[in-house]
Amino acid sequence: MVAGPARIAVEEAVSVLRQGGNAVDAAVTMAFVLAVTHPQAGNLGGGGYMLIRSASGDLTVIDYRETAPAAASRDMFLDEKGDVIPRLSLDTHRAAGVPGTVAGMALALETHGTRSFATVLSPAIRLAREGFRADRGLEEALDSELERVAKSASFRRSFFKGTAPLREGDLLVQEDLARTLETLSYGGPAAFYKGRIARDLAADMKANGGLITAEDLASYKPIVRAPLTGAYRSFHVVSAPPSSSGGAILLQILNMLEPFDLRLLGHNSSAYIHLVSEAMKRAFADRSRWLGDPEFIQVPLKGLLARDYGASLMKGFDPDRATPASGAGPGDPTRFEKDQTTHFSIVDAGGMVVSNTYTLNDSFGSGIVASGLGFLLNNEMDDFSLKPGVPNLYGLVGSEANSVAAGKRMLSSMAPTIVLRQEGSRALPFLVLGTPGGSGIPTAVLQVLLNILEFDMELQEAVDAPRFHHQWLPDQIRLEAGGFAADVQEALRKRGHSLAQKDSRVTGDVQAILVDRKAQWLFGASDARGHGVARGH
Ligand code: DON
Repeated sequence: MVAGPARIAVEEAVSVLRQGGNAVDAAVTMAFVLAVTHPQAGNLGGGGYMLIRSASGDLTVIDYRETAPAAASRDMFLDEKGDVIPRLSLDTHRAAGVPGTVAGMALALETHGTRSFATVLSPAIRLAREGFRADRGLEEALDSELERVAKSASFRRSFFKGTAPLREGDLLVQEDLARTLETLSYGGPAAFYKGRIARDLAADMKANGGLITAEDLASYKPIVRAPLTGAYRSFHVVSAPPSSSGGAILLQILNMLEPFDLRLLGHNSSAYIHLVSEAMKRAFADRSRWLGDPEFIQVPLKGLLARDYGASLMKGFDPDRATPASGAGPGDPTRFEKDQTTHFSIVDAGGMVVSNTYTLNDSFGSGIVASGLGFLLNNEMDDFSLKPGVPNLYGLVGSEANSVAAGKRMLSSMAPTIVLRQEGSRALPFLVLGTPGGSGIPTAVLQVLLNILEFDMELQEAVDAPRFHHQWLPDQIRLEAGGFAADVQEALRKRGHSLAQKDSRVTGDVQAILVDRKAQWLFGASDARGHGVARGH
């Protein structure tokens, strides 16, 4: 079963499974196909996290998050007065971190796959070379980003037909990208990090004020990490460790909630939303203070994830009153309107599971297509805390822990997750899920998980149910527009919460698979908010 954000890529991944490939073979094909057919988030020029459960039960995370180039420094996005220079970390060559996707996929394949790099790449090459028909998701993504990305000539060359952006049904042929993928197919990942692609990318950077050099590319390494694991009731929840904050936030919130009887409060009742938001708020406050790249700072993970710590954070919880985010400064809620990271979930017949989230950060990243190479540059540098207390694209504030430094990974919120159920002596896959949504990623994963574990919903219902989000600052609950009754909202305001209504796109695009071992069924669900599908074979 494959659940993903766009039909062509899901079908290519299913066809790998049908031909006897395992979940990782299918995942790598999927990631490269998305780089061709879903350029708003699929990528060669970005990075992410792949959580793998092997058929024998081993759990691994491949952290292929981008890194800051060697020439990057703490204040590189500030002017002489110490203010953040608008858009420098978003729309320029400087916004790009050293891409991790190609190395991450190659490592996943080498450690867990059964197919050659050339084999898993071939569907992506065919789709880039022969073209494919743009889908509704691509048309919508182009329209919503038009003002920003249309400024970039390289973007217009790639994704415009004449003077207008591609429409659904238009054929998109990407010759430069096809050539890049072919180079990869012959040369392997080394072609990207040391060969022709590296040379061309470094030259493009140099010509345009970017910082990534040939040495940065040559020294990029994906990191194999142990995932974070927590317990929730009788389930094991497994998710991404730092350099993402996503798993830590998810587990921390679950710890805070476990002592409460959520069923009694009722799904999406005001009492439930109040309680869960208060827990979210506390976890995000900790994120801003404690989380960053573990190669650079000491992340007190044991403490953050200790159950007693969760309980101590909730000591001040008042069921009738919102706890004010102390020293709440104004965030910037205006720029949450993005949904352009992407997640896919795969379970194969042998019990191998992949939960993968990867991104260019913003939709189409920086909007800059690497010269002659056909792939978009990420704008992940914006995920660093550019200046303590100044909110980023997602309104997140950070501290020294997530300041820019050479070679450092910028803190992520991505949370590819697998829930295992203890059956006798074995912990077996039960639920696989993840989503885009910036800071809203861990809170969306949390709610789908609770919808199933606490409220006994069917998978699709659990994925589609209206969601809310709190991230400490700005001090408000974001409600999915149209999803919450007026009396529920009134009751939240009475407790002292300020509420913001958000377009449903901001609450994610969850791709989930549920394993029903008794019935011997796999259930797949692709979020009704997006344009994806789930398919079995
Ligand atoms: O790593 C992160 O947390 C962000 N760069 C993710 C961006 C994202 O999810 C965009 N889609 N909404």
